[in-house]
Amino acid sequence: MSVHKNNLKRVTTHSLLEMKMNGEKISMLTAYDFSLAKIVDQAGIDVILVGDSASNVMAGHETTLPITLDQMIYHASSVIRAVERALVVVDLPFGSFQGNSKEALNSSIRIMKESGAHAVKLEGGKEVAESVQRILSAGIPVMGHLGLMPQSIYKYGTYTVRAKEEEEAKKLMEDAKLLEQLGCFAIVLEKIPAKLAEKVAKEIKIPVIGIGAGSGVDGQVLVLHDMLGISYEFRPRFLRTYLNLHEDIKNAIGKYVVDVKTSDFPNENEQYK
Ligand code: KIV
Repeated sequence: MSVHKNNLKRVTTHSLLEMKMNGEKISMLTAYDFSLAKIVDQAGIDVILVGDSASNVMAGHETTLPITLDQMIYHASSVIRAVERALVVVDLPFGSFQGNSKEALNSSIRIMKESGAHAVKLEGGKEVAESVQRILSAGIPVMGHLGLMPQSIYKYGTYTVRAKEEEEAKKLMEDAKLLEQLGCFAIVLEKIPAKLAEKVAKEIKIPVIGIGAGSGVDGQVLVLHDMLGISYEFRPRFLRTYLNLHEDIKNAIGKYVVDVKTSDFPNENEQYK
């Protein structure tokens, strides 16, 4: 960890590796805006992911496909301005890296230069190896993402658990080893059987961060709006909700509406003499 100007020890890709070696679990959450990223950082999270799930929870799209590189850079810049301690990783959105490795590098450079982020994440294994290599050769840390890859939703047609069959599990293990070999600093495993995720975490040295991948991995990630109960309709088995903010915010706003309508707000103390 490097020391930040406010004496906070910044989380780096190296500190994540140390955490894995010391058996300390890594905590990771998404954030997309300044205000919530500040709270998430101050709460002590290790990694903040500016995920392309912004396409769902911020923009209301059904999938992660529509979000653009410019929009990801906007979200990432807002998060970076708030964060003092966490490592900030930004998703390469759909269409910004699949074309060729040069495009992948250019997109990554734009994210790093224009937002000030610390690393990028991209979905895929063998098929994106050349891109991963090229991004890494420019000194940009890369986090991999295997298992359920929401950018490929139209290839599979469902968001069900991945790698249940032997052949897919074998490919996932090979891809994880390849990403490690190429030099990725960590891998996200999404929605795969817990036993397989644990096996991957045991067989590679870099941290494996799970979402719907059980407890045998090196850390956990959730989408902030899901765990806070804001996106209340999304309740998969793997999700633990810590608040019911959808109801709480709705109730608070309902009270405000009543207070305004009944002229209860503002009162004597809430106005200037
Ligand atoms: O975009 C995202 O939020 C993600 C997490 C689900 C890991 O990729």
